[in-house]
Amino acid sequence: MSSAVMLQLSGVTKRFGGLVAVNNVSLEVRQGEILAVIGPNGAGKSTLLNLISGLYPTDSGSMRFLEADITLLPPEQRAWRGLGRAFQIVQPFPEMTVRENLLVGGIYGKPRTSMKTAHKVVEDVLRLTGLEPKAETPAGELTLLEDKRLEMARALCTQPKLLLLDEVMAGLRPAEAMEAVELVKKVRSSGVTVLFIEHLMPVVRALAERVVVMDYGQVIAEGRYDEVAQNAKVREAYLGRSA
Ligand SMILES: Nc1ncnc2c1ncn2[C@@H]1O[C@H](COP(=O)(O)OP(=O)(O)OP(=O)(O)O)[C@@H](O)[C@H]1O
Ligand SMILES: [Mg+2]
Repeated sequence: MSSAVMLQLSGVTKRFGGLVAVNNVSLEVRQGEILAVIGPNGAGKSTLLNLISGLYPTDSGSMRFLEADITLLPPEQRAWRGLGRAFQIVQPFPEMTVRENLLVGGIYGKPRTSMKTAHKVVEDVLRLTGLEPKAETPAGELTLLEDKRLEMARALCTQPKLLLLDEVMAGLRPAEAMEAVELVKKVRSSGVTVLFIEHLMPVVRALAERVVVMDYGQVIAEGRYDEVAQNAKVREAYLGRSA
């Protein structure tokens, strides 16, 4: 894989009233890498993902994705360009089957796709994520592990070039989290770049090639896992707060 820059954020800021949730953040995601964003609760991680996927407009700063300025694009146009997003709070349509939920992902942001193509994509993703045996099960009947898989699968059905994952392993038992780690590795091997937010440090250590640490809306450290784990500012950010 080349190390070309895929996504570039420059001085991105988001305020909620007086609170600066994301404060002048600049970072790069390189083609083919697995990048983790970590930080204490309320650090601004999910907000950052909301800015990247276009759910919230930025107050200032700019974003480039695959050579194009996406700062002002709506979410579906970002999805169409290859930004795929899995949410921290999983919200499938409970009465629809796993397959039907995935079809929604398969047509999202692709006005010109055919149902035949969408079905083919869904089949591939069902296989990749191990959800095939559950294809006809209503999403409301899934276990937490299966729910998390469905959320990742739904994002994969948008055929992302960059997959954004927000705590997709939260609540999983350690063995289940490691299964999910293997799935993310498989996804990356299929050519997808991954940016993930995670609180579980064993997962970050096992998966991330590079780690960006946020605190109070700002990037306070960046580097390999062992580098940031040694960083004094990072240790201070995690001490005395429930992270
Ligand atoms: N829609 C919103 N309206 C007002 N404030 C918000 C909104 N979304 C987030 N915030 C605030 O912005 C700050 C950053 O929140 P964010 O959800 O991005 O943190 P986080 O790093 O994802 O935290 P966690 O690890 O708990 O998921 C918090 O103080 C939060 O209360
Ligand atoms: Mg969050």
